[in-house]
Amino acid sequence: MKKIMALFGLTVWLAGCGEKVDPRIEQDKLRRSPGFSEARRICAQCHALPSPNQHPPVAWPSVIGRMENYIRGSNKKMPTQSEHDALLGYFQTNSSWK
Ligand code: HEC
Repeated sequence: MKKIMALFGLTVWLAGCGEKVDPRIEQDKLRRSPGFSEARRICAQCHALPSPNQHPPVAWPSVIGRMENYIRGSNKKMPTQSEHDALLGYFQTNSSWK
């Protein structure tokens, strides 16, 4: 009987997960969005590529400005103007904060 209850619990738990967006689908969507490759090239030089959800769209320019100051003080690659625009767009359009 205990086993059946455990199995039932597991089924409910798994079904509950299905209601949320599968994180792999989210990841796929991000990878295909414009600016992803620029963001990965520039932003993953020092740490893992952050999630666009870490900040609301209005906050991303100042975060990226701070990061560009770090890049200036290091031997990492600075984004070109078009890379900067592309990666800023990536973080802003994919941020789920509205
Ligand atoms: C030269 C190295 C370097 C590069 C390149 C870099 N970062 Fe950072 N990043 C840091 C350091 C150091 C910290 C921790 C100190 C801080 O938060 O200011 C950090 C922290 C962060 C944080 C967490 C703190 C916060 O304000 O939320 C985010 C988000 C972030 N970086 C985003 C980015 C993005 C986006 C890019 C690409 C434009 C980028 N980083 C490129 C060095 C770098």
